Amino acid sequence: MSTIESPDTITLIRPDDWHVHLRDGAHMAAVLPHTARQFARAIVMPNLKPPVTTAADAAAYRDRILAALPQGMAFEPLMTLYLTDATSPDEIRRAQDTGFIHAVKLYPAGATTNSAAGVTDLRKCARTLEVMQELDMPLLVHGEVTDHEIDLFDREAVFIERVMRPLRRDFPELKIVFEHITTRDAAQYVAEAEGPIAATITAHHLLYNRNEIFKGGINPHYYCLPVLKREEHRLALVTAATSGDERFFLGTDSAPHAVHAKETACGCAGCYTALHALELYATAFEQAGALDKLEAFASLNGPNFYGLPVNEGKVTLKRETWTIPPSVAMGETQLVPLDAGDQLHWKMS
Ligand code: DOR
Ligand code: ZN
Repeated sequence: MSTIESPDTITLIRPDDWHVHLRDGAHMAAVLPHTARQFARAIVMPNLKPPVTTAADAAAYRDRILAALPQGMAFEPLMTLYLTDATSPDEIRRAQDTGFIHAVKLYPAGATTNSAAGVTDLRKCARTLEVMQELDMPLLVHGEVTDHEIDLFDREAVFIERVMRPLRRDFPELKIVFEHITTRDAAQYVAEAEGPIAATITAHHLLYNRNEIFKGGINPHYYCLPVLKREEHRLALVTAATSGDERFFLGTDSAPHAVHAKETACGCAGCYTALHALELYATAFEQAGALDKLEAFASLNGPNFYGLPVNEGKVTLKRETWTIPPSVAMGETQLVPLDAGDQLHWKMS
């Protein structure tokens, strides 16, 4: 149980981020300290250019992350592999043997940023999925169909019927995380499904509905994939996150993009929240009157699902008003965090 010491202080077991994009090179060096300051560990997405498709790639990427970590910061990157049509069962075995690769990510080809090398037909991966099931290696799913005939706002719900149900029928013991869920359909599906399934929920999907993208003009910093949905879906996500159901846990999907790649005619998808993730989640949980459920969501349910120990340290959030910076340096460029220039009323100390 999170301790709410007073209405002005929250103390939590140190949380983890079960879904983050750290990128690489100078961009990674700039964003990594934000994640490491807030979280003890994070599941690091493999959608680099080129993607992290082998255990050797993941080992090299992990070394680069650890080398970029500022002195004195404790942070454990939990690595993932990018599933392709050609990922072999042996690659999964090699990944498992490293001890630091904790999951395999399914991007349906064309679903989102750097997903071109993703899976074109999951049936091609049957032997690989069998080995993952056998080894208890979780499959992390970007749950959207890529069929452009399907309305953008319906792609997650259609994915459940077309992909998730057949996948779970064929591999009932495969551990699955339905990543960054955005609909009531997905929340209900996960809450009611049998077997080893869980879901991550971002702070931005708890705080905003799709109106935010179009308020007073087009707001590219609220464009992410899966895209924000209607208010009824946001409310269903808040209910799931604050329900105490252990299947739901924190995954920011913090996705840094250079400002010029967001504020342009064809802007990239992704919201940057690594800077202020816990404060954003605390805001959402407080609005729901459920601050007492934040610790389970942020610090307990994730390790429980992944079979990892709960962290030892604690973090404290204080009620304090501060202004989110308008931008943050990222290598040679800048990025704009979610809600840039707005005030937050919780601050991690
Ligand atoms: O909004 C998103 N950004 N969704 C994703 O699935 C990928 C991510 C990114 O890598 O920028
Ligand atoms: Zn993501």
